[in-house]
Amino acid sequence: MIIFETVQDFRAFMDERSVGQTLGFVPTMGALHQGHLNLVKKSMQDNDLTVCSIFVNPTQFDNPLDLEKYPRTLDADIAKLEQVGCNLLFLPSVKEMYPVYPPILFAPDLGMMLQVMEGRHRPGHFAGVMTVVKRLFEIILPNKAYFGEKDFQQLRVIQKMLEHLSLDIEVIPFPTVREKSGLAMSSRNVRLTDEEKDLALHIPRVLLHLQKRVSESPDQMSAILQQTTEELNSISGLKLEYLDIVDENTLQNVEVRPADVPIRACLAAYIGKIRLIDNMRL
Ligand code: PAJ
Repeated sequence: MIIFETVQDFRAFMDERSVGQTLGFVPTMGALHQGHLNLVKKSMQDNDLTVCSIFVNPTQFDNPLDLEKYPRTLDADIAKLEQVGCNLLFLPSVKEMYPVYPPILFAPDLGMMLQVMEGRHRPGHFAGVMTVVKRLFEIILPNKAYFGEKDFQQLRVIQKMLEHLSLDIEVIPFPTVREKSGLAMSSRNVRLTDEEKDLALHIPRVLLHLQKRVSESPDQMSAILQQTTEELNSISGLKLEYLDIVDENTLQNVEVRPADVPIRACLAAYIGKIRLIDNMRL
């Protein structure tokens, strides 16, 4: 795997050596787990070359402590990428990504999609995500970019953002990879104690139960959502931030299942100090 720390080196390589080859891109913030690696593998199947980026993007952290505590495991990350056969790694510094800091944010008004869920509870988060992803896209210029459904709102925001840019990049969604226990893999899971991990298992369990109940009684969706919210609120040690059932296109709450658009239950909850998100299509 070739590692690039500067935009100039990466562009020089691509411009000289990879003419005519298709390029897949997997942006990450490191602390890589099987979810990230499956995105890389998918990209390798679809493209001649795959580039992964690792950059803990300071502009998207609304909570400075979360940024400070974000796990950084670069040597292990490089070993994992080598093991799956990733071709290229883009590993920029903050200075390389943002020559002037703080940068001018790229934050187009995507309407109501930004006002809900993560957008509502993490002010400024998506402005930071859009800023960094736009810059990464402009540097890497991939044919395809791979994003996990684990961060479903992020995936939709990036797709929507691309409608406003003249970049010819196809966003490929990838299903959430879970531990055997059902817990969605996340870089933040390493910060959970064993006890907290057990508590976190309520999240996929409750989402699965919600999915089953809504499929059995679709006309009872609102009542089921309310009961599920109450159930989560009654678990001591778990602090629910939101549980919403949304239209997958607009991300707005739905009370009745629309005929033509899939719907998804999305939640965020704190286990101790760790904030986890998860979602499931209903
Ligand atoms: P990060 O949290 O490192 O995630 C990188 C990519 O991996 C995202 O597309 C995310 O949705 C995906 N991913 C994470 N956990 C997953 C899982 N369990 N199953 C499937 N995919 C999973 O998301 C970010 O970084 C950043 O916001 C970024 C897009 C890199 C911009 O800074």
